Formats: sequence, structure tokens, C-alpha cells
Amino acid sequence: MNLLENKIILVTGAGRGIGRGIALALADAGAQVAAGDLQMDGVEETISLVEQAGGAGLPVFLDVTKADTISAAVETIVQKLGRLDGLVNNAGVVRINPALNSPPDERALQFDVNVEGVYLCCQVAARQMISQGNGGAIVSIASEAGKVGHMDMASYNASKASVISLTRSFSMEWAKHNINVNAACPGGVDTPMLLDVAKWIARRDGGDPHVIVKTLHPPQLGRNIQPIEVGRVVAFLLSDEAIIIRGQSINTDGGQTPY
Ligand SMILES: NC(=O)c1ccc[n+]([C@@H]2O[C@H](COP(=O)([O-])OP(=O)(O)OC[C@H]3O[C@@H](n4cnc5c(N)ncnc54)[C@H](O)[C@@H]3O)[C@@H](O)[C@H]2O)c1
Repeated sequence: MNLLENKIILVTGAGRGIGRGIALALADAGAQVAAGDLQMDGVEETISLVEQAGGAGLPVFLDVTKADTISAAVETIVQKLGRLDGLVNNAGVVRINPALNSPPDERALQFDVNVEGVYLCCQVAARQMISQGNGGAIVSIASEAGKVGHMDMASYNASKASVISLTRSFSMEWAKHNINVNAACPGGVDTPMLLDVAKWIARRDGGDPHVIVKTLHPPQLGRNIQPIEVGRVVAFLLSDEAIIIRGQSINTDGGQTPY
């Protein structure tokens, strides 16, 4: 079933990890994917993987914290692919520190990328979709960390709770433009970011990060989630089939947060 046939969708942070998995899943569902990231070699590799799988796409540079780079990326997409039907806000960063020692610059970075980055990309994409007059869809990658607390991750948890809140507000404001806005809340996905978390735990508690990372999985699933598994849910949320799901932040964490 080609849920996203002929749709043109921008994925941020698509140079590796979950963003790459989302790009592959969207292409598999029939979309043309614009893969955006700070790291051009990463997005070029993502698009090469999309093409090897029989899909099509475009690598674009963007920094989600800089509005001019987002606008330039969207202009390139419209020029080369014709329009913009969807946005996936996936780019994100994590910094781990006990709250008592949390450095202000690390808190600022997480809010800049994870919250303001989502805000800016939504603004630019929604303006483009409104100007086209055919509506669209936005999915942001929040986290189960935005719904529950995790030790030594207070700023990250708060930044992802903010993404859940923005999702509700944008969904209400842009419903009249037929733009559907939702979020996915993964947990324990096998990516370089999860390995960074494991390295931090290893520094704190000892042990091998490559062993620890395998333990950071949803108990009900018994293994790490793979990026493309998150991507398949995102593909559904971007599709017309999800029209009755609006302003929601759907758990995609293998049962880790079963409520
Ligand atoms: N891995 C997990 O278990 C997990 C769980 C829940 C939520 N998430 C969220 O999923 C998203 C992707 O996570 P991941 O594990 O793939 O991370 P990752 O670190 O492996 O990849 C993140 C990508 O985002 C890009 N990026 C970072 N800052 C950027 C910026 N300012 N502009 C453009 N691109 C930027 C990086 O270059 C990188 O390619 C993040 O928002 C993360 O918070 C991850």
C-alpha cells in the first residue's frame, strides 16, 4: 500500500539514526524524501540508500536552529521537487547531567535544537503549505522522555515535553488550513544517540557501552527498536489514513510507557 504516493516530505536530522530510518520508510511508502541535516555526507548516504531501495529523494543542508537555512532548504525542495506536502521534525540532541550540575549552555542547546528547532521548521513548512492551498501533515519526533522523567536528563525531558505541547497547539491553530500535526514518542531506538547515552552510563556506573546500549530497550519488546520501525508509524501519521488522529503524541516505544 503506497500510503504516501507522490507526497514530498522533508525529514530533518536525516543524516543518520531515526531520521535515516524515517526517510527509508517514507520512500518505501511512495514519498519523495528531502533529507535535511547539518552533515551533508550523512544525508547524501541516506539518499543513496533510498535510491538503492528504488525510491527517490534530495539531500539538503539545514540547521534547524537557523531560520534562513530552513527557508533556503524549503525553497530548494519547491524548486526541484515542486512543492512540500509534509515535514518530519526529527533533528534532536541530548546532553546528560545531574540537575545539580547541569551547565546552562547544555540546557540552552537542548532547548534551541529540540524546541526552537521544531518551532522554526513548523513555521517555515506551514507557511509553504498554506501558500500552496492543499493542506499537509507534520510529525515531530518527541520522546517517551517527554511523558515520564529520566534520571539526569531533566532538560532533555522538559524539551521533549515542550514538543508534545507544541504539537497540540499547532494542531489546533492549523486545522483550518487542513494541516494535520502529530508527534511520535520513541524510546530505546538503536542509534548513535542511544550509544552516547550508554557511554555516559558507562562513565557513571562502569561497564561496556556496547553491552549497556542493548539493555536500554523496552521491557515488553526485549530488544532495541530499529529506526525504520519508528519510520513506518511516522509514514502512517503523515498519510490521509491518519486524518482522525490530530494533535496526538503517539507512543512508539515498544510498550515502555503503556499509558
Ligand atoms: N534514539 C532513541 O532512543 C530516541 C528515543 C526517543 C527520541 N529520540 C529522538 O529522535 C530524534 C533522532 O534521534 P537519534 O537517536 O536518531 O539521534 P542521532 O544523534 O543519532 O541523530 C540526530 C541527527 O540530527 C542531526 N542534527 C542535530 N542537530 C541538528 C541541527 N541543529 N540541524 C539539523 N540537524 C541536526 C544530527 O546531525 C544527526 O544526523 C531526536 O529528536 C531524539 O531526541 C531518540
